[in-house]
Amino acid sequence: MPRLGRAFVPQPAVALDVTDAELSGKLAQVSKTAVLTLRARADEQHRPDRVLLDPVAAEWMARLPWPPELDGWYQNDAQGNLALRADDVDQIVRRCVAQLGTRVVVELGCGLSTRRQRLAEPSQLEWLDVDLPPMIALREALGAPPPHVAGSVLDLAWLDVVPNSETPPLLIAEGLLYYLPRTEVDRLFAAIAARLPGAVILFDVVGVDDFPRLLENSSSVGAPVAWKLERNFDQVLLEFGLDPIPEFDPDELMKDALSRYWHRFNARTRGLIYFAMGTPEVWARRSGMVLGRFVSAAFTGGPDGSTPPAPPVDLAP
Ligand SMILES: C[S@@+](CC[C@H](N)C(=O)[O-])C[C@H]1O[C@@H](n2cnc3c(N)ncnc32)[C@H](O)[C@@H]1O
Repeated sequence: MPRLGRAFVPQPAVALDVTDAELSGKLAQVSKTAVLTLRARADEQHRPDRVLLDPVAAEWMARLPWPPELDGWYQNDAQGNLALRADDVDQIVRRCVAQLGTRVVVELGCGLSTRRQRLAEPSQLEWLDVDLPPMIALREALGAPPPHVAGSVLDLAWLDVVPNSETPPLLIAEGLLYYLPRTEVDRLFAAIAARLPGAVILFDVVGVDDFPRLLENSSSVGAPVAWKLERNFDQVLLEFGLDPIPEFDPDELMKDALSRYWHRFNARTRGLIYFAMGTPEVWARRSGMVLGRFVSAAFTGGPDGSTPPAPPVDLAP
C-alpha cells in the first residue's frame, strides 16, 4: 500500500475519454451528485471569502462535462454549503490526526473527492477510496491516485483491504448515507462494528426541517434522498449504535463550524441560526456532522488491541 506524504503533483490536462453522453448515461443518478460537490470546491477558489483552495478540483472540473440537470440544485445555495461541508470535514480529519493519532482514512462514496490531495502535504496518512465502478473508472481517467475499491460500500469487500494501522481507521461518509436505504445503512454499520471494532466514522445526517428541500433538489436529478434523522439530534450517536468521542461531541462540532464559517452567512441566515440555537425543539431537528466510534471491547488493529497515543502530524492548513 503506498504511503502518502509527498506534495500532490497534478496530472497534465489531457482530453478525457468521457463524453457528455457517457457521463450523463453511464453514471447512476446518485453519482452525478459527485460532480455537484466537485464544482462547489472548484468554484470556491474564485471567491474572495474562500475557505479552501482546491486546484485539483478546478482541473478535474475543467475536464468534465457539466450535467445540465444539476443547474437548478447548484444555483440553489449548493456552492457555498457544499464547499463549507468539504472544508469542515477537512478540519475534522486534521483534528483526528492530531488528537486521535489517525493514520488510515477511508473515504466511502468518495465520488470526485480531492480531500486526499488537499491534505497530502506532508501527511503520513494511508488512504483508501471506495465508490461504484463507473465513478472509480472516472477517477482513474482523471488521474486520481490509487488505492481505490470499485464496488458498493454495501458489498463489504472494501473491509478486506482497509490498511492495518496502530490506531483505528477513520471512515468518512460525506454526502453518502442518506442516499442508501436506511436498513442497509444499519446493516453496514453492524458489519463495520464486527469487522473494524473501534473504527471511527464521520458522516453527515439530514434533519427533518432540511429534508424537504434536499428531497426536492435530489429528486430533480433523479437521486432522491432516502431517509432523515427522526430522533433528536442529541441522540444521533445512540441512533447509529456509536460510542461518543468526548473531544468530538456533535454539538461542539456544529458550534465550531458555525464560528469558523460565520463570515459566510448573510443576516437572514445568522438570524435563523440564532433562532434555532435558542429554540431547543428546532435545534433538536437540525442536520449536522456526526463523529463516533464503532462499539467494541477493544480495537484489534493495534499490536496489543490498545489504541496507543501517536505523535502529532503536520497537515497542510
Ligand atoms: C453526493 S456524492 C458525494 C461524493 C463525495 N463524498 C463528496 O462529498 O464530494 C455521493 C457519492 O456516493 C456514491 N455512492 C452512491 N451509492 C454508493 C454505494 N452503494 N457504494 C459506494 N458509493 C456509492 C456515488 O457514486 C457518489 O460518488
